[in-house]
Amino acid sequence: MLKASLITDKHFKIGKVDPRIYGSFIEHLGRAVYEGIYQPESPFADKRGFRKDTLELVKEIGVPIIRYPGGNFVSAYNWEDSVGPVSERPRRTELAWQVIESNEFGLNEFTDWLKLADSSAMMAVNLGTRGIDAARNVLEYCNFKGGTYYSDLRKKHGYENPHNIKVWCLGNEMDGPWQIGHKSADEYGHLAWETGKAMKALDPDIELVVCGSSGLMMPTFGDWEATVLDYCYDTIDYVSLHTYYNNHADDSADFLANSVGMNDFIKSVVATCDFVKGKKHSKKQINLSFDEWNVWYHSNEADSKLEKWTHAPHQLEDVYNMEDALLVGSMLITLINNCDRVRIACLAQLVNVIAPIMTSDTGAWRQTIFYPYMHASNYGRGTVLKTIVDSPVYDSKNYCNVPYVDSAAVWNEETDDITIFAVNKSFDEDIEFSCDLRQFGNISVNEHIVVAHDDLKAVNTEAEPYNVKPVYSDKDKCDGGICTMILPKQSWNVIKISRNH
Ligand code: AHR
Repeated sequence: MLKASLITDKHFKIGKVDPRIYGSFIEHLGRAVYEGIYQPESPFADKRGFRKDTLELVKEIGVPIIRYPGGNFVSAYNWEDSVGPVSERPRRTELAWQVIESNEFGLNEFTDWLKLADSSAMMAVNLGTRGIDAARNVLEYCNFKGGTYYSDLRKKHGYENPHNIKVWCLGNEMDGPWQIGHKSADEYGHLAWETGKAMKALDPDIELVVCGSSGLMMPTFGDWEATVLDYCYDTIDYVSLHTYYNNHADDSADFLANSVGMNDFIKSVVATCDFVKGKKHSKKQINLSFDEWNVWYHSNEADSKLEKWTHAPHQLEDVYNMEDALLVGSMLITLINNCDRVRIACLAQLVNVIAPIMTSDTGAWRQTIFYPYMHASNYGRGTVLKTIVDSPVYDSKNYCNVPYVDSAAVWNEETDDITIFAVNKSFDEDIEFSCDLRQFGNISVNEHIVVAHDDLKAVNTEAEPYNVKPVYSDKDKCDGGICTMILPKQSWNVIKISRNH
């Protein structure tokens, strides 16, 4: 059996987790909105048309913030189309995904739905085809108390109180040539600065996210962030990062090593933010919003054959397998271990579209990636501890010295529990994982949850929704503050440890 170890100390803190790192994303894309969260004709719908089965699973995860309405969708979107009487809302051609948008569900429906989901909004404005004016108007509609054109329009639409949306994204992936209204770093940096200035003049309490790169491999990566931040540093609060991994090459060892790439991406963007901070002699720190991350590739071929200009097609409907759950687990661990700078992160997306939750006419079910996401959100709140992990390593096609064990330790000071998240990336060996927590005194393992499957390609489907599911392990021992756990081969683990008083 392979062996790995972890040592930590309650005084060695990375920082407090901002719960918003367990955020998600709902775009007007495929069946995310229509059939995902809203489907009046479904037997699962409430009287507003919101799917109750989806809401239950969203609440099971505990999603503190949800980005909306895009994504690529936002870059040619008129927010005004989505408010007011539904019968008067226009049907539009939607250019990003070449479908028809009916606008039956819009901004106010989303804020109503969020209340039922116990979540909050992260709203994106259109800086593709539009600019400062549309951005300040939608902000006035959402956040201004009343007595002005747009705030009174909101009241006329039945919303007396402002929505008070705190976090706003200044466009989406503006570095990407695929984006409607794609811009150079100088063009975007200037527009984002001016838009942010107008928005904060209207509501100084909001937080702004400026677009960073759409991926680490973008040709403009690095220069883009430095140029954009040079314009916007004083106005914005976060810079965004996006990343999606795939296993088209069917090289699982290399696929699972991608969390190393994600960590490098975060560290590089932090370095760029701090470079601009130094250059400007600023006292302000810019933090990171990793507002799109996931695995995305299973649906690529099916999507290339989709008929265009339909409403809510089955688009980006990746069916996730066991190895995807392992990488999602490792990506969550990476976000947790970078919680001092990553303050917001959004698993893209939430329902039906590259999502942990799927729906059909017969109900809703949990994909494999649901479990690590739900566990991290449920048990990963508190203070992240610095750990020293000694793990055997491997080399893959694109990465060197990849640890077989990825792990993070979160101390919840309120309950005084420590949760250790760990992924074992070995395909053929269990790992004996010994955790030295002597600083915490007399401790014991309360619960060890394992998600594992012999077949890395195992999936959950409508017909077989519990093929991959959590089980409990009882093989762990604690002695004198050192706990020894068995991490089964190719597994996601949540180990809850309590102090015995
Ligand atoms: O999440 C799917 C798409 O991926 C988003 O619309 C876009 O921002 C990214 O390219």
